[in-house]
Amino acid sequence: MTNKTLTLTDNQTGKTAELDLLEGTHGPGCISLKNIYKDTGYFTYDPGYSMTGSCKSGITFINGEEGILLHRGYPIDQLAEKSSYLEVCYLLLYGELPDKTQFDHFSDTIKMHTMVHENIRDFISGFRYDAHPMAMLVGTVGALSSFYHDSLDINDPKHREISAHRLIAKLPTIASYCYRHHRGLPFMYPDNNLSYVENFLQLMFAVPAQSYQQNPVAAKALEVMLILHADHEQNASTSTVRLAGSSGANPFASIAAGVASLWGPAHGGANEAVINMLEAIEQSGETIETTIARAKDKNDPFRLMGFGHRVYKNFDPRAKIIAKLCHELLDELDGDQPLFKLARELEEATLADEYFQERRLYPNVDFYSGIILRALDIPMNMFTVMFAMARTVGWISHWSEMHSDPEYRIGRPRQIYTGHAKRDYPG
Ligand code: ACO
Repeated sequence: MTNKTLTLTDNQTGKTAELDLLEGTHGPGCISLKNIYKDTGYFTYDPGYSMTGSCKSGITFINGEEGILLHRGYPIDQLAEKSSYLEVCYLLLYGELPDKTQFDHFSDTIKMHTMVHENIRDFISGFRYDAHPMAMLVGTVGALSSFYHDSLDINDPKHREISAHRLIAKLPTIASYCYRHHRGLPFMYPDNNLSYVENFLQLMFAVPAQSYQQNPVAAKALEVMLILHADHEQNASTSTVRLAGSSGANPFASIAAGVASLWGPAHGGANEAVINMLEAIEQSGETIETTIARAKDKNDPFRLMGFGHRVYKNFDPRAKIIAKLCHELLDELDGDQPLFKLARELEEATLADEYFQERRLYPNVDFYSGIILRALDIPMNMFTVMFAMARTVGWISHWSEMHSDPEYRIGRPRQIYTGHAKRDYPG
């Protein structure tokens, strides 16, 4: 809080409200609305809450104008270059980077929880053969609460911590089972001799009949992808987790709510839209020039998927990192496939184009993540599952932070009622 206030005056009644101005470490200040109803008789109206700070948080900072993303103060490019995904998990959860002993202990703890109860395997097997992997994921994460009655006391920090560890550890196992059930493949058991990412690749792609060959380039690409998607402040799914959890709902139910929110195409589905667009361009035989001309034509609703961002009006810092990775991966794996060639040409052409330059429309993280996941042989209906797996640590860190915040209250927005005025039942 600062000593500054803002005075709001109602011109009709002359009533005034003194509103405190709050400031964080970085970023624009906020007007505290705590007393606004008491002093003026008004609520505020902010559809989509895009002008509303819903909480105080020390986890992630974004400056979209300057293209900055910090986790616990550390720039994302430094974390992507120097850290592992599990180390970033520790940082998000506990607020500091771990020393070697802390990291080894954390890593061992996560490994201890990678297996799931055999009944969860049966539970996943019970889904229809053609169930969407996200449908299975949302159901299975919610179902975890029926397996862990021993640690559902949200007021006990130890219980909250165990739930966080279980979620981080089990998500790769569950995500892979969602994929394998869909494909009719047998479920593999986790291998705790492997790194978090290698274990996931093995769970996804190994078959019991032969040993699985890890590809270090693929593992590195996936590691960085997970780091880049680990948290992104108060986005729709994170806010959903906080809102669901604010009623006291258990962590598994709260995270399942986040998975459901992520499922929407306006949130987690953008990278899938990129591949759909590239395939459509390829099949239609359109050229890069005509595609770009369509994207610029205001009479054509077509937009280039994977370009532009609501928050980042500069190069998305995650996109810079992932672009480099994407190029390395394509060189190594499937460099000359037509789809990837098309993606590279489109990227080059838009970066050189005045329309995109003037509007500061850069390729966003989803442009590259879709291409990377495709190159890793991850099917499109698993893209959002991958995102959910990476973001689980962000969700549970925010959920935990909320429960240790003395100002936390149940989330309960207001409304402007536009229905009928009070009327009497006829007759
Ligand atoms: N292709 C062509 N033109 C575009 C694109 C695009 N992808 N994105 C924005 N523009 C143009 C708009 O037509 C507008 O032009 P004008 O000033 O001549 O009218 C200008 O750029 C500004 O566009 P807005 O819609 O006002 O930008 P906004 O910030 O509201 O939209 C959004 C951001 C929704 C992401 C948009 O860029 C878009 O639709 N992109 C494609 C979808 C996509 O990739 N979504 C994933 C985003 S990443 C994420 O959410 C995790």
